[in-house]
Amino acid sequence: MKAIVSGATKGIGKAITLALAGKGYDLGLGARNLEELNFLRKEIQALYPDIEVITKSVDFSQKHETRNFAETFLHHWGDIDILVNNVGVYEEDNLDNLNENDLMKMFNVNFFSAMRLTQPFLPEFKKRKSGHIINICSVLSKKVRKKAVSYSLSKQALYGYTKILRNELRNYDVKVTAILPGSTNTASWDGLDAPVDEFVQPEDVANGVLMAIQSNGLVEEFEIKPINPKH
Ligand SMILES: NC(=O)c1ccc[n+]([C@@H]2O[C@H](COP(=O)([O-])OP(=O)(O)OC[C@H]3O[C@@H](n4cnc5c(N)ncnc54)[C@H](OP(=O)(O)O)[C@@H]3O)[C@@H](O)[C@H]2O)c1
Repeated sequence: MKAIVSGATKGIGKAITLALAGKGYDLGLGARNLEELNFLRKEIQALYPDIEVITKSVDFSQKHETRNFAETFLHHWGDIDILVNNVGVYEEDNLDNLNENDLMKMFNVNFFSAMRLTQPFLPEFKKRKSGHIINICSVLSKKVRKKAVSYSLSKQALYGYTKILRNELRNYDVKVTAILPGSTNTASWDGLDAPVDEFVQPEDVANGVLMAIQSNGLVEEFEIKPINPKH
């Protein structure tokens, strides 16, 4: 069993990566910081020496790097079982200072990375008639935060793409799940005054991912939020 995770070295991506490692998946992992990738690979191999862990430094905001990343694993493994489109960045703006360049930067990481990573695997998923794509969306995929307009738009695009994928791929027995976390205690909140202890923990999201993967049914989506959100 083989899985790819984008943005694997921190936060939600790392928690999902460790959860998949615990289930015996060989792993293809991407993020920019090579040192952190190497550290993660060693951490996983110390815990689970039998699984294959391939790490690759990649900037998912870049079209060709993202396509190359996908091609690497397509050539190495031929096909995969799980694709987790997790990478994403959060930045704030509003309607008054909405700027096309900043919006494109946000779209490149939060939306196009998922599309560019997924598209090359579609023929294999369809041919095999199995597999599971997990897209890490956001509660802002369904509503708007006034002070995070570009982020909301990018996550709504990802959510829309997820529904289009699901609609098509269920005819090939391939599952597609949208995960919509609320505030989650990760590095995304570093430097911000936020009650992170009350947030959802990355492991909670990872447990949900395992539940979706192990279910006999199709978990189309789930939202996971702090119980009593103040942020
Ligand atoms: N945290 C929340 O409250 C929250 C809520 C809802 C949804 N989400 C979503 O959950 C996902 C993960 O968020 P997180 O908070 O866990 O993030 P995080 O802790 O900031 O970790 C981000 C990960 O992505 C990598 N990354 C960032 N930009 C990249 C790029 N351009 N190219 C390659 N790798 C990149 C980082 O490594 P490098 O820096 O080394 O590249 C790191 O491994 C995102 O899609 C986010 O929108 C988060």
